[in-house]
Amino acid sequence: MKIVVIQGPNLNMLGVREQNIYGPMKLEDIHAQMKAFADQNGLDIEFFQSNLEGEIVDKIQECLGDADGIIINPAAYTHTSIAIRDALSAVQLPAIEVHLSNIHAREEFRQKSVIAPVCAGQISGFGPFSYHMAMVGIVQIMNEVRAMREAQQAQQAQQNLQG
Ligand code: DQA
Repeated sequence: MKIVVIQGPNLNMLGVREQNIYGPMKLEDIHAQMKAFADQNGLDIEFFQSNLEGEIVDKIQECLGDADGIIINPAAYTHTSIAIRDALSAVQLPAIEVHLSNIHAREEFRQKSVIAPVCAGQISGFGPFSYHMAMVGIVQIMNEVRAMREAQQAQQAQQNLQG
């Protein structure tokens, strides 16, 4: 099973930007931890970061037929991007929205996510550990989806046998 991790604008500056909010860890260190978890669990994982909305939309579209689940921190686009929301809706893959900071405890404009309604869930406020929790969550959901698909296939095969 394959997970694609999508990181929005300014997350390439983690470790430099507003350390009092986002902490000292760099994006590549977060990704190294996620990769270690993926390896331990026999999962494929791909990382993508962009500061451009259209590139994020393109990446989500590319996940169709390639990935089984998406972990996304849309960063500032969380609060504005109908295009990213529509792309997630279009591909119909399980997705988890992640934030390092607790967006609900911050400025009013950050408290609204236009992305959350098209995600399986949102994890917000645990710093880099939010990504680990998202990995555990997406693995659970991908396993449920696979079990459901296998049960449907078994039922279909049974029906075919019965004529
Ligand atoms: C963020 C929260 C957003 O409001 C902000 O624009 C970010 C990072 C987070 O991970 O806490 O860039 O998504």
